[in-house]
Amino acid sequence: MSPTRTSDVLVIGGGIIGLVTAWRAAQRGFTTALVDPEPGGGAAQVAAGMLAAVTELHYGEQTLLGLNLASARRYPDFTAELTEATGQDLGYRQCGTLAVALDADDRAHLRELHTLQRQSGLDSEWLSGRECRRLEPMLAPGVRGGLRVDGDHQVDPRRLAGALVTACERAGVVFHRTWAERLTVVRDRAAGVVTTDGTELTAGHVVLAGGSLSGRLAGVPDDVLPPVRPVKGQVLRLTVPQRYAPFLSRTVRAVVRGSQVYLVPRENGELVVGATSEELGWDTTVTAGGVYELLRDAHELVPGITELPLTETRAGLRPGSPDNAPLLGPTELDGLLLATGHYRNGVLLTPVTGDAMAHVLTTGELPDVARPFTPRRFGAAALTEQPA
Ligand code: GLY
Repeated sequence: MSPTRTSDVLVIGGGIIGLVTAWRAAQRGFTTALVDPEPGGGAAQVAAGMLAAVTELHYGEQTLLGLNLASARRYPDFTAELTEATGQDLGYRQCGTLAVALDADDRAHLRELHTLQRQSGLDSEWLSGRECRRLEPMLAPGVRGGLRVDGDHQVDPRRLAGALVTACERAGVVFHRTWAERLTVVRDRAAGVVTTDGTELTAGHVVLAGGSLSGRLAGVPDDVLPPVRPVKGQVLRLTVPQRYAPFLSRTVRAVVRGSQVYLVPRENGELVVGATSEELGWDTTVTAGGVYELLRDAHELVPGITELPLTETRAGLRPGSPDNAPLLGPTELDGLLLATGHYRNGVLLTPVTGDAMAHVLTTGELPDVARPFTPRRFGAAALTEQPA
């Protein structure tokens, strides 16, 4: 029988959300362990890294907007602190975003978004097609107008994940490079996990931060299991040769025939093109159709991309939740907390999630900014409550 290892906090899942939670917990003085076969892997290895609180605003998501903006505001200090702690650059670029329309339908959609942004007090400027092309000369001549959003930036999620692994190591987080197989519950309290190699890990607090896998951990009572599902996204990476630079100076995005397409240019010449959104369960196949649609839509937006080397195709799984917002904080099972369900906003929400989880681990309460995202909003009682 393997020995039992004990810590104050045990984080299940070593994606960016689990890592930031572990880092912040260790900084607060908790002995912290994290279980994941490949810390730093997961959806961050696929994500483009847009910090798109304003350009990805949707009707019905105004509460989430508050959390997104709070996290976007933390990004400059967060990346500076992480770089200071690790010596690693995160590719944080305050470059802004241009959302453009290619036809009359897209234009109407963008006008609606602009109205919603203004009603929400957000900075966003309507530009003519000519003004869009003056900002980004590689845009197609047919662009009909666009929204300039100077506050939506980008970070490199792979660098972010790598830096968080280093920061955790330096803060004393113990990594168990294996799978958590089953939650252990002792006297109605989460007590730890048993891993696939038979090790028993125990802790005062267990944080389930397993991304799209969070709803699958054995041993979690049914009414506590987070309602998280995988939403597939296929993403391409191209390389801009030096002779074409600067190809794009900011993130450019559009809705083409109802599908989102975005192009995120990095300073190192990488150009990320994303993303499909597919409800296909656990499938992570890169398909000819997915690649074709992304290239077709990106080509309509920026015809010159067909000249660029295509260097990578990949699919990842977003952790979707019923209201597209994360689940943060204590559950109905004592000792078990959640940090999952970040869906389209995992990279954006990394700083505020780390702070909120550290706060709740320390005080037992979520900070005000995170309170609407309690997992209890999906509990049996909440679902059966009738409006007055
Ligand atoms: N936020 C970008 C995506 O989910 O594709």
